[in-house]
Amino acid sequence: MIEVIRTAADMTSAMVRWTKENKSTGFVPTMGALHEGHISLVQASLRENDITILSVFVNPTQFNNPSDLEKYPRNLDKDLDLLNKLGDVVVFAPEIQEIYPDGTNLIQRIDLGFLEQTMEGRHRPGHFQGVVQVVQRLLCIVPASKLYMGQKDFQQFTIIRHMLYVWKSKIQLVICPIIREENGLAMSSRNERLSSEARYKAGEIFQILQWIKKHIQHNSTDNLLNEARKMLDDRSLSPEYLEIVDCTTLHPIKNIKEGLCAVVCIAVWVDGVRLIDNVILYGKLTPA
Ligand code: PAF
Repeated sequence: MIEVIRTAADMTSAMVRWTKENKSTGFVPTMGALHEGHISLVQASLRENDITILSVFVNPTQFNNPSDLEKYPRNLDKDLDLLNKLGDVVVFAPEIQEIYPDGTNLIQRIDLGFLEQTMEGRHRPGHFQGVVQVVQRLLCIVPASKLYMGQKDFQQFTIIRHMLYVWKSKIQLVICPIIREENGLAMSSRNERLSSEARYKAGEIFQILQWIKKHIQHNSTDNLLNEARKMLDDRSLSPEYLEIVDCTTLHPIKNIKEGLCAVVCIAVWVDGVRLIDNVILYGKLTPA
């Protein structure tokens, strides 16, 4: 069964009740337009907690491009139907003033250092400030025992992991693998905007990332990235960035060494839609 909570006050009282009853709580923050990637996070939380809470809130402060915010798909009824099939989920769907009672202009900047100066952060200035801001506000209202995030937004996951450490938070961060369409395209709410032709073409992104993974041991990362850029170019896929970086610091990696965790991250425009993806090339990703 689905229970929808609209206000921070109601959510806080429910949280207080569950804590008194010693119920474990799992939290899945989303911006709605749910797809199988989100479903896998909800299923993980349902397996591991007594109560699963999913938030649906399109956060205006993380959109650096107003038309992207405007075009972001919103369909709460469809999302609720999808969740209904999964089990008992509490949906927190607040209005903007519940999260930003003093307006969205009063954002306090947080020092994220290099973590927000590279890749997504370089191309979407202010994006991660907005993400950290909203996750912090949501976690004040829903201070769950476990927080579920997807590997697809790799840099976001890395930044939230860093913030939980800085806040000395007891919340356990759980990272869930990327769910892919049949042709390898990473599931995303943005895929809804792709034509079937573009969706097919976008499957090539994953194939190229897999090609890098296959050849990583015997090549310098610069050579691999140059080859991969040529392959993308041949397929008229224009990457905004393609980088092999350390999974924790996000600094570019030149040579693969034992003990490292390396990930290749990409953002590509496909027929006017910006897609991101990543593949762990080497080592193990640690959630905390
Ligand atoms: O990944 C998302 O959907 C959003 O960035 C998040 C974490 C829900 C914050 O708005």
